[in-house]
Amino acid sequence: MAQWLIQNGHLIDPANGIDDVLDVRVIDGVIAEVGKGLKSAAAEECIDASGLIVSPGFIDIHCHLREPGQEAKEDLLTGTASAAAGGYTTILTMANTRPVIDQAIIVEGMKNKIRQDGLVRVEITGAVTKGLEGKELAEIGDMALAGVRALSDDGNYVDDARLMRAALEYASMFDLPVISHSEDCCLVADGVMHEGCVSAKLGLKGRPAEAENIAVSRELMLAEMTGGHIHIAHVSSKGAVDLIRAAKAKGIKVTAEVTPHHLCLVDKSIESFDSVFKVNPPLRTNEHIVALLEGLKDGTLDAIATDHAPHAYEEKDCEFNEAPCGFAGFETAFSVLNSRFVTTGEWRVQDLIAKMTSGPAAAFDWKDRGHLSVGGLADLVLIDPKAEWIVDPQSLLTRGKSCPFSGMHMTGKVVSTMVNGRWVYRDGEIRRDC
Ligand code: DOR
Repeated sequence: MAQWLIQNGHLIDPANGIDDVLDVRVIDGVIAEVGKGLKSAAAEECIDASGLIVSPGFIDIHCHLREPGQEAKEDLLTGTASAAAGGYTTILTMANTRPVIDQAIIVEGMKNKIRQDGLVRVEITGAVTKGLEGKELAEIGDMALAGVRALSDDGNYVDDARLMRAALEYASMFDLPVISHSEDCCLVADGVMHEGCVSAKLGLKGRPAEAENIAVSRELMLAEMTGGHIHIAHVSSKGAVDLIRAAKAKGIKVTAEVTPHHLCLVDKSIESFDSVFKVNPPLRTNEHIVALLEGLKDGTLDAIATDHAPHAYEEKDCEFNEAPCGFAGFETAFSVLNSRFVTTGEWRVQDLIAKMTSGPAAAFDWKDRGHLSVGGLADLVLIDPKAEWIVDPQSLLTRGKSCPFSGMHMTGKVVSTMVNGRWVYRDGEIRRDC
């Protein structure tokens, strides 16, 4: 395997407390050495990373790759290429595929396909209930033995508290987190956007923030009752942040994530009736964003996750009420947050990187990921913090060309991504050979 010496990059490795200009030597897929002025060996290729940030590869604990069954939206080839271009070296894919990932045999099939087509490390989430129908538990034990890393009916809330209790009890026997899409089904009913002044003005049915608060509150009680690990997906409401903060203080085993879109976009965008902004949970208001930011800062929210949820352009290109929810997120995540919060001086880039690397790794106890320790996996990303670019959905590698950040000016871009000592994305190009 090739050997690399990445020289003079600004190494930011929050897990190891490193923030300095350093060289990184990679041999056989492993970080062999980190230090100043390392001498290159004959067999090594040197990479000049002056002016670039060298970070552990990003970890996305929430995405949808659509394979099997909905390859017109995305598949493992396009999804993992998109992840690599976004700087992700590990991603956790959700179970709402067709068929649903609810049996060990489907997990095994996925593992084979990932080995064949996956450009980055793809971890698998198994469903909580069969067919995501919320009626009967899926094959949790068998899927755990087959290697799923989490359980979730994401896209749906598990309405039946008895089933969720059983899922948490069962999952804890295998040390697996249960990821909750927390929106009370009755309260959201057929709402299509955040319930508030904007929904009233537009005459669109709303999904109140209380639907999220109620759902989160039940999950926290069940986690306390069972001792299981609940992970709250895509937190978007102030109430949810407050509830999770209090639960953490009480010692309940809860972790949580927030998405770039819930941090940067508000319901007002929907005044255009553009279905690109339709997502669940919905985009809310500034008041909620302030609470999310506070939650990120004080550790209530452990990680930033994309909820990369691509849909074919034609599916999204329709009346708001009819459009599917979600959009692609891998390739814009770092740049959107860097542009919105780092270049404005509100965040340090170190804090952003922590929430995309060590934060998610710690949330799910993935000890081998999210850091650049000597002897550890050579999963890393090179970022040009000053690169300027404009989001053009047509040039994204995902098949989900519908993007709420389309046309926006970005500062900061991932330029190269290494997985297991191999460049899978180098100087802006996908590499399947290097
Ligand atoms: O907007 C969303 N889309 N939210 C989800 O939770 C699911 C996702 C999807 O699968 O399309």
